[in-house]
Amino acid sequence: MRPLILCAFLLAPAFGADPIRFLAEKKVFVLDAGPNTIAFGLNERSEIQPLYFGQRLWRDQDLPAAHALREWASFDRTSTITPQEYPGYGAGLFVEPGIKVTLQNGVRDTVLKYVSHVIKGDVLEIKAKDQGYDLQVSLFYHVYPQGIVEKHTVITNKTPNVLTLESAQSGTLHLPPGEGYRLTYLYGRWAGETQMVHEPINPGVKVLESRRGNTSQQSNPWFAIDGPAPVSETNGAVWFGALGWSGNWRIAIEQTSHQQVRVTGGLNTFDFAHTLKPGESLETPPFYLGFTDQGFGEASRALHRFQREYILPGGLTSKARPILYNSWEATTFNVNEQGQTELAKKAASLGVERFVMDDGWFGARNDDHAGLGDWTVNPKKFPNGLKGLIANVKALGMDFGIWVEPEMVNPNSDLYRAHPDWAMHFPDRPRSEARNQLILNMARDDVKEHIFAVLDKLVSENDIAFLKWDMNRNVSEPGWPEVAPSEQKKMWLQYTRNVYEIIDRLRQKHPGLEIESCSGGGGRIDMGILRRVDQVWTSDNTDALDRLKIQEGYTQAYTPKAMMAWVTDVPNFNGRSTPLAFRFLVAMQGSLGIGNNLNHWKDEDFALAKKMVAYYKQVRNTVQTGKLYRLASPRDPSGFQSSQYVAEDGKQSVVFATLHSQQYGRPVPTLHLQGLDEKAVYKVTVLNGRTLELSGASLMHRGLDLNLTGDYAATSVLIERI
Ligand code: DGJ
Repeated sequence: MRPLILCAFLLAPAFGADPIRFLAEKKVFVLDAGPNTIAFGLNERSEIQPLYFGQRLWRDQDLPAAHALREWASFDRTSTITPQEYPGYGAGLFVEPGIKVTLQNGVRDTVLKYVSHVIKGDVLEIKAKDQGYDLQVSLFYHVYPQGIVEKHTVITNKTPNVLTLESAQSGTLHLPPGEGYRLTYLYGRWAGETQMVHEPINPGVKVLESRRGNTSQQSNPWFAIDGPAPVSETNGAVWFGALGWSGNWRIAIEQTSHQQVRVTGGLNTFDFAHTLKPGESLETPPFYLGFTDQGFGEASRALHRFQREYILPGGLTSKARPILYNSWEATTFNVNEQGQTELAKKAASLGVERFVMDDGWFGARNDDHAGLGDWTVNPKKFPNGLKGLIANVKALGMDFGIWVEPEMVNPNSDLYRAHPDWAMHFPDRPRSEARNQLILNMARDDVKEHIFAVLDKLVSENDIAFLKWDMNRNVSEPGWPEVAPSEQKKMWLQYTRNVYEIIDRLRQKHPGLEIESCSGGGGRIDMGILRRVDQVWTSDNTDALDRLKIQEGYTQAYTPKAMMAWVTDVPNFNGRSTPLAFRFLVAMQGSLGIGNNLNHWKDEDFALAKKMVAYYKQVRNTVQTGKLYRLASPRDPSGFQSSQYVAEDGKQSVVFATLHSQQYGRPVPTLHLQGLDEKAVYKVTVLNGRTLELSGASLMHRGLDLNLTGDYAATSVLIERI
């Protein structure tokens, strides 16, 4: 047998071989990322030309060499129709460039050619350079076992003069040429984030972007492309990607008139001009790209696994998200030691593990007109500082978290009176307020240092386990008068870098500190912020029914572990009232929180909530770190929604099912579970109902009939391997 194995190995170097290989004869790079292979080659012009992005190939020999395409017509030169991994704007390029440069002498022509490469394990760096002048671009590729490749570039000015970058993208994705692809993306608004849209890809360019200074609620930096054959949750080819950037970002999805479908992602080109002095570099944000042939469900699961393992702080060793109570909807700005302690007692009696005091504890903050910027405890509300409340919370067995909004200032604040120039502005122009607040120019070093010092003091002096970091408006008047006009547009980039730096430094100095990213709900959810926060606030809209669609969109891209979902009072946002059990069973599909005014609860509410909290503790590891199968979409006109989570070790699974409204007598569809072991036998316990034993085969093929009837009905089923 042995010689045969050896022989097979020689013929088939892909499996068991180095994850990244350069086939010197053909000048082809082969990258194996778990179940996928990515390949590109150097064509006769030394351009880096994509060859393949899809399911794992096992024979390197099968990959062709790269050859530039012939000129189609004088209008479509070979330079624009030959696909390139990272094209410069130059030589008649009419598709989206990876980079666009203006030199000091006015030259606006960049043609990148391969120079050399370095392979270090699962990272490839390709060094490229303009064909004439010394602009260097390093293309980085990092492959991950979840089928994902991370691309970014480092652009270095090695010329003797200043140059200006007008576009700096992170990378591209090329699909097999063809038509009939479909794009899925997430759009939204305040209180209506991560809504899914599917649309056909047609010739032209579709741009997903934020120009707002943060990730935005309006559009999220994630996309999926499926097709051309029909694709479902469980089946079919899906290419997907997400940008790791919380500032102005851009993803362009393009179908050329030669049926090339290409995606280009990176920094937004809007209001972008980034000068590089000789020797200076710019590093673009990571662009994570993947593929699966197992539909949207597996595309999400790959991202979830990847985020849990490589993106979220602490990776696989990070602990389960604690169940938190947050005071915002109960007390808004009316916080004080006694009132918060009362709420804390009630929250603790439910089994809550973390008590978070929201807005209103600092400066002259009695409503949203004043106080932002003055991060000192309001002595009238908290005569003992924060220490009194924190001691009470800790004595109840919970840890303590607090709300901050560090990037903001109310004009009515001591900070603004002392430093009006710190707010973002253009000289002699009005400053637009939103929620009565201005945004600090976080790109400034003095502002960054001030904010770091304030937060550092807050968490050094108090036993704070958790910060809810909020950001309640977008950028307007993006001026930076203190620097030369040619440098001012760097604000967009430097702002986000400095926010990242503050969080990174805080975490380094206070290793136990956990952080939630909030921007009026889900305005700052992306894979850049997820590298440095433990969880995100999904939406200010806590209406359970609206949440189902928000959560469905969210989980396309991001792990349920980081998805904070609170149970709150009704009627909520849109005047809708849903039963408490329904609200719990919706919130338990992510990381559970409670935001009710517990002073208004009756005994039976406490009794139900206690049971739900205990149940969540039983299943939360599976919800937060298991595999998610979306069994029924809340967008389905039937009003029936269901999601199933299967623990990584396969021992536990939990199903949640909700029914918006039932047409009289119409049964909900049989639920066919997924991800179980056909041969295993499971104990199946319906919440508040019967227990039975069923095989995996039966649960998946014959299915489960849930007796959901009426309006706003909900249930859960616990499945444990025997
Ligand atoms: C917006 C957040 O999303 C809310 O949860 C709350 O923290 C308020 N800000 C407080 O002002």
